[in-house]
Formats: sequence, C-alpha cells, structure tokens
Amino acid sequence: MENLDGSILDAPVIKVTPPGPKSQQILKYQEEYETSALNYPKYFKIAIDRAQGSTVVDVDGNVYIDMVTGISVLNLGHNNPYIRKYVEEQLDKVWHTLEVPTETRINFSKKLLSTLDFRAKLLFTTTGADAVEAAVKIARWATKRKTIISFEGSYHGITAGTLGFTGANRYREFQEFFDNRVVKFPYPYPYRCPFKDCLNEVLSLIDYALSNPGYLGNDVAGILVEPIQGEGGYVVPPRGFLKGLREIADKHGVLLIVDEVQTGMGRTGKMWAYQWEGIKPDIVTISKSIGSGIPVSMVAFRQDLDNLPTGFHLGTYRGNPLGLAAGLASLEFIEKYDILSRVQRLGDKILKELSAGVKNPHVGDIRGLGFMIGIELVNNGKTPWSEGTKKVIEESLRRGLLVYKAGRWDNVIRLMPPLTIPEKLLDRSLEILQTTLNNL
Ligand SMILES: Cc1ncc(COP(=O)(O)O)c(C=O)c1O
Repeated sequence: MENLDGSILDAPVIKVTPPGPKSQQILKYQEEYETSALNYPKYFKIAIDRAQGSTVVDVDGNVYIDMVTGISVLNLGHNNPYIRKYVEEQLDKVWHTLEVPTETRINFSKKLLSTLDFRAKLLFTTTGADAVEAAVKIARWATKRKTIISFEGSYHGITAGTLGFTGANRYREFQEFFDNRVVKFPYPYPYRCPFKDCLNEVLSLIDYALSNPGYLGNDVAGILVEPIQGEGGYVVPPRGFLKGLREIADKHGVLLIVDEVQTGMGRTGKMWAYQWEGIKPDIVTISKSIGSGIPVSMVAFRQDLDNLPTGFHLGTYRGNPLGLAAGLASLEFIEKYDILSRVQRLGDKILKELSAGVKNPHVGDIRGLGFMIGIELVNNGKTPWSEGTKKVIEESLRRGLLVYKAGRWDNVIRLMPPLTIPEKLLDRSLEILQTTLNNL
C-alpha cells in the first residue's frame, strides 16, 4: 500500500459529530482571546490535535481527510517524515542567520534554481505578499517604469503594497492604501466569459493598451499574473494565455511576472504552472508549499536583471534556515517520488470521476489542472451560489472531509489535496464529495 506521507489510512473516522465537546471548549476560548476577524474557524468548527500526511485529527479523536492543506501550503502532507528529518537536522544546527549563508541555504538555492528552466537569481522574502511586492519592485527598478498590469479576480495578497494588484474588490473595504499605478484587465474565465473569443479578445485588449501611447503610454513595467487564479475561483484560462502574454510582453519590452505562490511546487502537475505553456517568465514569486508549513518565500528573477543595490529589499526573517531545510527536502521529495506524474495521472482521474459522478444542476462547472480542482456552484442557471459552498463545506466536515471555497462570489469549492494523498483516501474523498454534491 502506497503511503508516501504517513497518512492515517482508515480515515475518515467520525467518533462524535463535529464540533465535539473538547473542540467546542477550545473554540470558545479562541473566540474570547482572539479577534472577531477570524475566518477559518467559522468554517472548520474543530480544534486540531495533530496531523499526519493527508489526515488531521481533532481534539475529540475525529480523523479527517485534508483537502485544504492549509491553502496549498502542505502539498506534501502534514509532518512528512522525509521533510521532518531535514528540519530536525537543521534544528540541531542553527535557526536564524539573517542572510549569512549556511550550507542548507546554498543547497536549497541551487536545487530551486535548477527547477526553473531560465537563468535566475533569488531574493528571499517572508510571505507570498512580500514576494509579490519585491517582484514588482524589481520590475519597476529594472525598467524604470511604474505601471503594473494585473487582472480582475486576481489575488496577490492584502498588504498595503499588494492590495493594489489584487483584483478582488472585497478586500479593499478594509484598507485605503492603493497603488494607483495599476491597470486591471479581464482574466479569461471560460465559464463566465463575456467575449466571443475569451483568449484572443483579452490578449488583443492588452496589446492595444500597450500599443497606444494615449492609453497606457510607455510607463508599463510588468504584467503580474496567476497562471491559474487561486482565490479567484480556480479559474483555468484557455491554453495559450501565458504564451500570449509572453509575446505581448516581449513586443512591448515589458516584464512578465508570474505569481506561482498557489500554483507552484507541483500543485498543477508541473513544478511551476507556467511550464505547461513552455514559456520563460522574467520574474516568479514562490511561497506557500516551498516551506511545507514553515513560512518562507522568495522571488526568482532573470539573472541579467540583477543590478539591485545593497538593501534593496529587507525583512528580518527572510530565508529562515528551518524553512529552507524544509524547502530543500520538499524539492528533493517531489523529484525522488516522481510526484509530478502522480499528480497529472490522479488529477485527470479526479476530474473524470467528478464530471461523470456528479449530476446536479447546482454544479455549473468542474474544472482544474492537476490537484487544483474547482467546482463552481450555481442557482437558477448561472447565478453564483455561495450558500451552496457553505453547505458543502459543512456537510463534508460532518462526514470527515475538509474542503474549502474560493471565487469572486465565494461559490467555488476548491480541492487542494496533498500531492501525496494515498489513492485509497482520494477515492473515499471523491465518494463523500459526490454524495454531498448530488444531495445539494
Ligand atoms: C497567488 C497568490 N499570491 C500571493 C498570495 C499572498 O500570500 P500570503 O498570504 O502569504 O501573503 C496568495 C495567497 O493566497 C496567493 O494565492
């Protein structure tokens, strides 16, 4: 039996309907001590005791299959023994070094750069948003221009710097610091495309704006894009989108910044999602699963753009040694166990099984690439149905499966299983999902 990540193989086990009494007690304390702005505990009404591989155990002894993976942070499962070993070895050595190198840092950098298929250099950051800010700074510095093109429905973070690029308006309600040198274009969203030709009309629009000095002028530094929109609803653009953007960027001397924070580290069945299009970006942002749960992030950018002055980007915790040890182990693990072909094979299977097994008019679209699957829920035709995603999250939890939502209207169930999930657990998850979706 294949169990790459040490999952609890008889999951799910529901001993007491969640939230059990211990979970309820802990959630009550959390509510008392922490802000009402908490998000996830409102959907997952459990307190976690421990987690192993693709499974999570709550304090009442219930065992869940985890298709949330901390929002694509635990691509290789919780507490993966291969990664744990590297982190433990690093724990015995040193935990924090600023930028002063360690052997692990060098080994990590070499390994990461070898996966990118363009000659790049690294700049370490601390979070996904920090990586995006640094990437944009590099593009502006390198081109001496200021304007950034980003996309409607996109998510690049919610710091004061990144909120300007993030396309989803709802995050703007809470903060008023916007970057006014950003122009947002439609993202090709095949299920909800207002154009006749979703791909080429969007590309033409961008090309037109860049060609016209009276529109964007000559001030565009870069195009910032997610290869598949994550928070925006697991929106897979038509094939050729990134390739088209690459061509437009080249034509106008603009840099292409690919945000791989959610799509990277094998999530789509390639190490980096841009590799599906055979293009070479100028700048790539990397975070989430690279540290397998230990916060670490970075920007990889074209080597010839590296004329950055000392102290160009700072942050005390950048390049944390424990995170980089986890990163090195994660990159090795993906290669050693041929995780990418596993994700391609099983990703196709998920799409096929769900498409064949789910028959309900509330399910408007099932889409995805690799282990990044979106199920868009609708009501009365194509009206986004956010109540539906709440129901699916709740009902799945009750049955021992953790799933979460995304989307401009919160109406997409997104599946982000660990890339290591044992097939037996994957099959059980699909059974639970199909039943839940068919009963909506
Ligand atoms: C594509 C993308 N970019 C950037 C971010 C921001 O990362 P962080 O939450 O670590 O700041 C996210 C987070 O979900 C993301 O999905």
